[in-house]
Amino acid sequence: MSSVLNLFLYNYQEKKRFLEERLSSGLVNHYSFSQVKVPQKAVAFLEANQEYINEYKYIHSVSETYFRGRIADDWKSIRSLVPSHTKSILDIGSGIGGINLFLFHALDKPLITFVDKAKREQNGIIYDVIAAGEELLSLNKVPSEKIIGLDASSEQLMSDLKKHTYDFVLSTRALAFTFPYSLYKNVLKESVNSRGVLVTDIVKTENQKVLEKDKLLTDRFSSDGMPSSQKVLAEIEDDFSAKAKIVFETKRFIRIAIQKA
Ligand SMILES: C[S@@+](CC[C@H](N)C(=O)[O-])C[C@H]1O[C@@H](n2cnc3c(N)ncnc32)[C@H](O)[C@@H]1O
Repeated sequence: MSSVLNLFLYNYQEKKRFLEERLSSGLVNHYSFSQVKVPQKAVAFLEANQEYINEYKYIHSVSETYFRGRIADDWKSIRSLVPSHTKSILDIGSGIGGINLFLFHALDKPLITFVDKAKREQNGIIYDVIAAGEELLSLNKVPSEKIIGLDASSEQLMSDLKKHTYDFVLSTRALAFTFPYSLYKNVLKESVNSRGVLVTDIVKTENQKVLEKDKLLTDRFSSDGMPSSQKVLAEIEDDFSAKAKIVFETKRFIRIAIQKA
């Protein structure tokens, strides 16, 4: 597609997003997508992930694909779910965690804790997702004292997570999707504040056809079998003493939001 047409499309999408944000309820994005600076470490990681490249083929740069595609869509689906008083955010299985920089600038400069892998292998190359995420936030005006990047494989992970409490916990395509809810159950029970909100994607176990094709996903879960979506949902509702709301569904997962009693 020609660059003139691309530019036209970007401008159109930016204006549409701007209008939608002002006409609907929820956080307003004060950091425009065109302002975002992406460090080389993050670009290298994104380029190694086919999913980020294939999703929006008409956009060429991988950073644009990620921010104007995945992050913009996620932003749209969560902006009305984030408590406005949020002072502390936890992103579990964040990847480079692009959405957190928008949350930081839309809220009152909350503390941002994110968990992923310091060593993540992709096509034979090891990427430090934590370092890439920290650099992405720093480059985009998040002060270092507001950033806590934690390695999922650290022995102290759970005790480090429990040093803080959280008003908003986000886990897109990660908790209950890429890895089991049970891994973070205790932290969520203990460290999410009352009125705090969790947004997470629960893998759909009832869609056997999709699951059979997605061997990678089934293999990621514990050997005693993948818990059913209904079971995981009931467990989360029990842990939060509240009813979850379904934000949307895809073939592979249900995005839920739940506010702790
Ligand atoms: C499908 S990606 C989603 C990334 C990001 N949330 C997004 O939506 O773009 C799942 C992420 O979970 C991370 N991950 C895998 N096991 C994890 C664990 N036990 N704790 C935290 N993160 C983990 C992976 O490294 C990967 O970055």
